[in-house]
Amino acid sequence: MSAAPADALVVFGATGDLAYKQIFPALQSMVRRGVLEVPVIGVAKSGWRLSDFQARARDSVEKHGGLDQAAFAKLLTLLRYIDGDYADPAVFDTLRKELASAQRPVHYLAVPQGLFPLVAKQLARSGCAKGARLVVEKPFGSDGASARQLNTTLHEFFAEKDLFRIDHYLGKATVQNLVFFRFANSFLEPIWNRNYVESVQITMAESFGVQGRGSFYDKAGAIRDVLQNHLLQVVSNVAMEPPPQTKDFETFRTEKVKVLKGIPGIRATEMVRGQFRGYRKEPGVAPDSTVETFVALRLHLNSWRWQEVPFYIRTGKCLPVTRTEVVARLRAPPSLVEGIAVPPNHVRFRLSPDFVIALGALIKAPGEKLEGEEVELELAHTRAGDLAPYEELLGDAMEGEATRFAREDYVEEAWRIVDPAIQAGTPIFEYEPGTWGPKEAEAMVPGGWFVAES
Ligand code: BG6
Repeated sequence: MSAAPADALVVFGATGDLAYKQIFPALQSMVRRGVLEVPVIGVAKSGWRLSDFQARARDSVEKHGGLDQAAFAKLLTLLRYIDGDYADPAVFDTLRKELASAQRPVHYLAVPQGLFPLVAKQLARSGCAKGARLVVEKPFGSDGASARQLNTTLHEFFAEKDLFRIDHYLGKATVQNLVFFRFANSFLEPIWNRNYVESVQITMAESFGVQGRGSFYDKAGAIRDVLQNHLLQVVSNVAMEPPPQTKDFETFRTEKVKVLKGIPGIRATEMVRGQFRGYRKEPGVAPDSTVETFVALRLHLNSWRWQEVPFYIRTGKCLPVTRTEVVARLRAPPSLVEGIAVPPNHVRFRLSPDFVIALGALIKAPGEKLEGEEVELELAHTRAGDLAPYEELLGDAMEGEATRFAREDYVEEAWRIVDPAIQAGTPIFEYEPGTWGPKEAEAMVPGGWFVAES
């Protein structure tokens, strides 16, 4: 259910990288669409004044998406800035004054998660938490135990209904389209189960490295950085049951939690971790780091629909392409010619950087011989035009719409699944940048990993 719209937006970490790359462009676009008209208060400890903050905002939109003169001019009238240390109560007293008559502020914590408890406590002490919602960036905790502890701490100051845990994959129009496509097309439903689907592959490949984020990444690794959140979100969208017909969108989140509840913890024997050659020389990375920049694994989904259908997942930095894709391989039909296997059909969703839905089939190749040729029918291929994930999610948080944020039980289930993978301490295999990771990962999938031609 939607709550009352927010009447102020406070961004902690407002001078940081996330604000620069994602938040200012989203704010400008929201102003352009006429959905942002409330004060936007940046808070950070950078020794800045409002004019520096405004200059940063201008630079941000110029570099990320382009300056819209009229919208940006309007955004400038909304911007406020408070400089200071989050440990200093005076900063929050100033914020309380700046919020003036606002009753329902949204506080967005674009800061390291170690600061979440401090900021939440200061907000409560100063009266800024009253009627407010709290939006926190991922990662939420660094394992199950720390996530539970963080939940307990934040719940002292904010009720679960007012706590919005961001996973920007949920703001991707392509991820929403995957769910929409599943439930809007009757031809897919009869085959979207263990009777027809032989296996599911999810690949999140990135052709770049850690891009200067070495000190963050070396504490996280691929499992914490993207598997625990983005990739399990994709799994639950692929595998969830249709929610009951109701106007209560909370049921969507409940169905997704049910998917995770049926997934046992990752087995060390079904996982391969890798590290690209050169990672240890990245700034901020330990010279003897054993943190993974690549992981491939097999998940088991214990549900009526998916039992015994393996879900193969791989993600990595410095791979040959940047692309996130889901491929469901269908069971192959019997062969008409003895000794010649028929390749399986597939359904393919590309979620990033563009959006594709394609069906893979076999037709007779031209010529006299009875030979097959694999073809793909593209049902959809779109490039741009949708709102950016942060714009979608900021808009939802401002409206009090929580459906596309991770719920407490979801986050805890996700950690339960990946905790054994983090604790296993499996060997780390080096791979060459620009390859598909260690060769040990290649052997995991009977029939091989699917790689789309373009
Ligand atoms: C972030 C991770 O959450 O997601 C990054 O921290 C990763 O390491 C990024 O590159 C990928 O997001 P997108 O939207 O570019 O696919």
